[in-house]
Amino acid sequence: MSEETQHASPAIDPASVPQRTLSTGARMPAIGLGTFGSDHVTPAQVAAAVKGAAAIGYRHFDCASVYGNEAEVGASLESIIAGGIPREELWVTSKLWNDRHSEADVIPSFLKSLSDLRLAYLDLYLVHWPFPNFHPPGCDVSSRSADAKPYIHESFMKTWRKLEELVDLGLVRHIGTSNMTIPKLKLVLRDARIKPAVNEMELHPHFQQPELFDFVVQNGIAPIGYCPIGSPGRPDRDRTPEDTAPTEDPVILEIAGRRGVHPAFICIQWAVQRGQTPIPFSVNPRNYYANLQAAVAEPLTAEEMQAIAKLDRNCRLIKGQVFLWKDGQTWEDLWDIHGEITPP
Ligand SMILES: NC(=O)c1ccc[n+]([C@@H]2O[C@H](COP(=O)([O-])OP(=O)(O)OC[C@H]3O[C@@H](n4cnc5c(N)ncnc54)[C@H](OP(=O)(O)O)[C@@H]3O)[C@@H](O)[C@H]2O)c1
Repeated sequence: MSEETQHASPAIDPASVPQRTLSTGARMPAIGLGTFGSDHVTPAQVAAAVKGAAAIGYRHFDCASVYGNEAEVGASLESIIAGGIPREELWVTSKLWNDRHSEADVIPSFLKSLSDLRLAYLDLYLVHWPFPNFHPPGCDVSSRSADAKPYIHESFMKTWRKLEELVDLGLVRHIGTSNMTIPKLKLVLRDARIKPAVNEMELHPHFQQPELFDFVVQNGIAPIGYCPIGSPGRPDRDRTPEDTAPTEDPVILEIAGRRGVHPAFICIQWAVQRGQTPIPFSVNPRNYYANLQAAVAEPLTAEEMQAIAKLDRNCRLIKGQVFLWKDGQTWEDLWDIHGEITPP
């Protein structure tokens, strides 16, 4: 066993981890391990964390082709299954990257992820962003693609039809969206033959997205929450002076102090209890163990939940600036904040 996978803590019984029942009736573990290593965590470190996390009870892994580590994560998944954890107990998600939205590209891109992950099917495949705009990994937020496009619903549905085909082929069990807004989701719900089972979205105590959260839940779409701890490790290029950190919030600090846990623990507890599925990233065994413990810990009180509900600051951390498609726009234009899709 490598150093990263050694763990002194006893495993948490996966059967004790809360599950979300999706519109299909399938059950998805209500916490997953994020696998986006960004600039500072190597594919080998992420792959070691996947193995270590499975050993202590994680069964849900949030992957994506753009994270550049699916081959290494796939080797870990293969050894996890060879080690005796049945494939059906795992929940593995991947995502279609933005330069692969064209009809001809979707299935080959999916098949590449499937083979890198060394699986015969995926549990969930998402369209990573609703914009088909390529930008190189690690580029600056001021970077723009010369042929950047806005959200064009007809084009998105062509991509979506290919995802539906993957379900028909038995290659993926569920399909979903990510980084969507209510107006865009309304159109997808109107036109999809197979409705999105989940929407992956930024969710933490300082960015609770109450309207979008309620909308997806009311429409039978399970919310998966990314950056559940407020992404403290994100690169400088993804930070702006207005950003705040939920783990530094006095209310979170107070609750954490009273319970003798790290503020990250409270962020995860709140997320699981509120009803989203957090996917915290960590390659530190102590931290990913604590995050899974948070999902099974004694619940926060109603007063604590209410106190955290009041902390929302509408503070979006992942703004998506690189997806802007013309001059003179601000990142808010990507998020349809006036209740309509921002015109082209
Ligand atoms: N769909 C999308 O567009 C999208 C966008 C962004 C992210 N995601 C997904 O969401 C996942 C999570 O997002 P994220 O990585 O940006 O943010 P995050 O999970 O909020 O934060 C991760 C950071 O928190 C630290 N951390 C984790 N657990 C901790 C604990 N218990 N105590 C103290 N520190 C802790 C980690 O450091 P250590 O490694 O040192 O523990 C890491 O630096 C990604 O990996 C990816 O899978 C999806």
